[in-house]
Amino acid sequence: MTYKVDNISEIKTYLKELKKYSQYDFCEYSDSSIYRRINKVLVDHKLSLDELMDKTRTDSLFVENIVQEITVNTTEFFRDPGIWHELYSRHFVPLKKKNVVNVWHAGCSSGQEVYSNNVILSEMGLLDKSRIVATDLNNKMLKDAKKGEYNHRYNMKIIDNFNAVINKKKLADKVRFDKYFEFQEDKDIIKVRDFLKENVDFKRHDLVKGELNSYQKFDVIFCRNVLIYFNASLQSRILKRFHDQLTNGGMLILGNHEGLTGFFKTRFIKNGPVFIKNNAFHFEY
Ligand SMILES: C[S@@+](CC[C@H](N)C(=O)[O-])C[C@H]1O[C@@H](n2cnc3c(N)ncnc32)[C@H](O)[C@@H]1O
Repeated sequence: MTYKVDNISEIKTYLKELKKYSQYDFCEYSDSSIYRRINKVLVDHKLSLDELMDKTRTDSLFVENIVQEITVNTTEFFRDPGIWHELYSRHFVPLKKKNVVNVWHAGCSSGQEVYSNNVILSEMGLLDKSRIVATDLNNKMLKDAKKGEYNHRYNMKIIDNFNAVINKKKLADKVRFDKYFEFQEDKDIIKVRDFLKENVDFKRHDLVKGELNSYQKFDVIFCRNVLIYFNASLQSRILKRFHDQLTNGGMLILGNHEGLTGFFKTRFIKNGPVFIKNNAFHFEY
């Protein structure tokens, strides 16, 4: 018995049903990605699409669980270390002039990106004056992020990446690493030290639904490896919001393989891995 669906239009019908019966709206996710994810759910749960529809209408707990499976949560500490080193050694230096540094991690997954950045802010003496909000759609990921405790075997690169970013010119410095992380080798656990968690507000926010309200403008917005899962029109709406929510000269940091095209190229100035808000333009709709 095959559970897979060949036709994207059938999957889109399912997404409309999911939207009707839950708070989740995946209708504007990119066809290729959502096609793969829904088919994976069908195969893993041994369900036909009709059965998936029925469960979605009647079982809200089931819906919460499959949302964990639909979203791609892959992340790591100092993912793409070259970028983090550039932020640390170059792009974040002007933030030292600010009284308060406001940072938003949009699509923070289980928090490794947030804590990587907090290490950098701490090394630069900026952490105490930083206010950080970290958001995701996925409640399970947010719970893990708040806890800040990770299996080392799934985060094997942490020490190498840490050294590549922070200790680039020095030999591995265990004392420096231990300042931020407690490595319990016997339990295979890496714990983020409490002070790195203190000024982070982890909260649920759905980028599809709209603005992140009641926050000041941000000096830095991270949205790494999230927009690739969305179609072009949803990407545009979100990028417009990011532009509005950045301070003048604020920085947008996307994933290593993500960029801006067309219209948005004029709204941001690219400098290495950073897209700087171009103040000469305001959106008019
Ligand atoms: C691949 S992870 C990226 C994590 C991290 N930014 C990084 O680059 O390592 C993508 C994250 O985006 C989140 N996400 C997907 N759709 C979202 C939405 N509509 N609103 C907010 N977050 C979303 C997923 O739950 C997932 O945690």
